[in-house]
Amino acid sequence: MAIFPPEQRIWWNEPLHGKEVVWIAVAFLWGLVMFGTMVTWHFTGEQNLSNEAYRIDPDDFAARAEAMAEQYTVRTEGELDMPVVHPPPGSDVYMIGRLWEWWPVLELEKDQTYRLHLSSVDWQHGFSLQPQNINIQVHPGYDMVLTIKPDKAGEYSVVCNEFCGIGHHTMLGRIHVVEP
Ligand code: CUA
Repeated sequence: MAIFPPEQRIWWNEPLHGKEVVWIAVAFLWGLVMFGTMVTWHFTGEQNLSNEAYRIDPDDFAARAEAMAEQYTVRTEGELDMPVVHPPPGSDVYMIGRLWEWWPVLELEKDQTYRLHLSSVDWQHGFSLQPQNINIQVHPGYDMVLTIKPDKAGEYSVVCNEFCGIGHHTMLGRIHVVEP
């Protein structure tokens, strides 16, 4: 009965059973393996964005994006006649997040490197590239720069994944990746 102490008063002071030792060793080694995997994956997983951040005036950012669009627009698309901009490989490309669009549409060449600049000119937005699942917070006043090299041709969608008001769910953008 529980109101009496166990017969053997020091009930917990038992030597470790061999099987217990084995399981503790297995758990410990597995922990080490997982820890090593985290560190290794950081270098070999190729899942880390090479992003940089700079301060920028929102008007400056908009001016750069507009200058790029003015120079390299190749056509328009969609109901809103969005400019589709095909900048030269290796160049700086810009995408503005604003209420409620990603502007402009970019057309990039496969296997070419670009410096993709993202910023907002009003509120906070979330750049989410689908189906790649690349996610970046986009704030006014900060130029987020990703060095990217698209390796698959196709159409990519940009959604806003940070709630930004009544038109949030319509805030969509597009990146085309084409064969050179
Ligand atoms: Cu922009 Cu949600």
